[in-house]
Amino acid sequence: MIKGKIVFITGATSGIGEVTAKLLSARGAVPILTGRNERKLMAAAASITGRHGYYKLDVTDNEEVRRVIERAVSDFGRIDVLINNAGFGHFELFDDSPVERFASMMDTNYMGIVRCAKAVLPFMKRQGGGHIVNIASMAGKLSTPKTSGYAATKHAVLGLTNAMRSELAPMGIAVSAVNPGPIDTPFLQLADPEGTYSDSIRGYMLTPVKVAEAIVKVIERRTPEVDLPLWAAVGIRLYGLFPRLADRLAGRWLNRK
Ligand code: NAI
Repeated sequence: MIKGKIVFITGATSGIGEVTAKLLSARGAVPILTGRNERKLMAAAASITGRHGYYKLDVTDNEEVRRVIERAVSDFGRIDVLINNAGFGHFELFDDSPVERFASMMDTNYMGIVRCAKAVLPFMKRQGGGHIVNIASMAGKLSTPKTSGYAATKHAVLGLTNAMRSELAPMGIAVSAVNPGPIDTPFLQLADPEGTYSDSIRGYMLTPVKVAEAIVKVIERRTPEVDLPLWAAVGIRLYGLFPRLADRLAGRWLNRK
C-alpha cells in the first residue's frame, strides 16, 4: 500500500526524481521533493496538487542532509521511504578524465547515498521500519568504455545496497536497488554533451515514466532489486555468467559512448 506513505526523494528537480514524485502523488503518497536548485524545485513542487513538501538539499553537504531530514521528520512525522536518486555522470575516456571528476561523481552518487541513509536511519529505527530505494544503474553491473568513473560509482552503490539490505532487514527496513538502462532525461545532456551516445541508442531508451512506474512497484512490493528494461535484465545476467566471452562477442555493440 503506497497511499499515505511519506516518500523523501533526492534530486527531484528533473528526470526520474521529478516524474516519480508526480506518480507517487497520483497514487496517494506524500512526496517530499529535494534538490539543489530552488527555482527548479519550486517549479517541480508546483505541479503536484496533493499533499507534498520540498526542501533545498545538496547531497554532498552532510550538515544540510542531516538538517533537512530532521526537518522533514518534524514537519511530516516520519519518513517511510527514502529514494536516493540524485546523481550524474560524465562519459569520457579514463585517460582524458581529470582525477577530480572521479572524486566528484563518487561524492554525489555514492557518498550522497551514504549520507542520506545514515541521516534517515535513526528515524526509521525509531518508527520500527522503512524502505531505502537506491537508484543505481545497469552501469553498476556492466562497465563499458567511457564509464570508468561513472560505472565505478554505481558498482559502489550496489555493493553498499547489498550489505545494507542484510544488516537492516532485522530492523524491518528494506533496501532496494533499481538498475535502469539508458533513460531519456537531462542526465544524458551532461554525460554525453555531443549527443553521440544518445543518438546511437535512441530506439532503446526508457522513458522516465516507465522508470518511475518501476520505482513505485519496488516500493509497493519491497522488491530487493530490479533491472530494466527486460532486454537489459537478460543481457546483464548473461554478461555475469560469461563476461570475457560477452566482451569478445558484443564488445563493439557495448562500445557506443
Ligand atoms: P537528471 O539529471 O534529470 O536527474 C538527476 C538529478 O540529481 C538532477 O536533478 C540533479 O540536479 C540532481 N543532483 C545532482 N547532483 C546533486 C547533488 N549533489 N545534490 C542533490 N541533487 C543532485 O537525470 P536522471 O536520469 O533522472 O537521473 C536520476 C538517477 O538515475 C541518477 O542517479 C542517475 O545516475 C540514474 N540513472 C540515469 C540513467 C539515464 O540514462 N538517464 C540510467 C541509469 C541510471
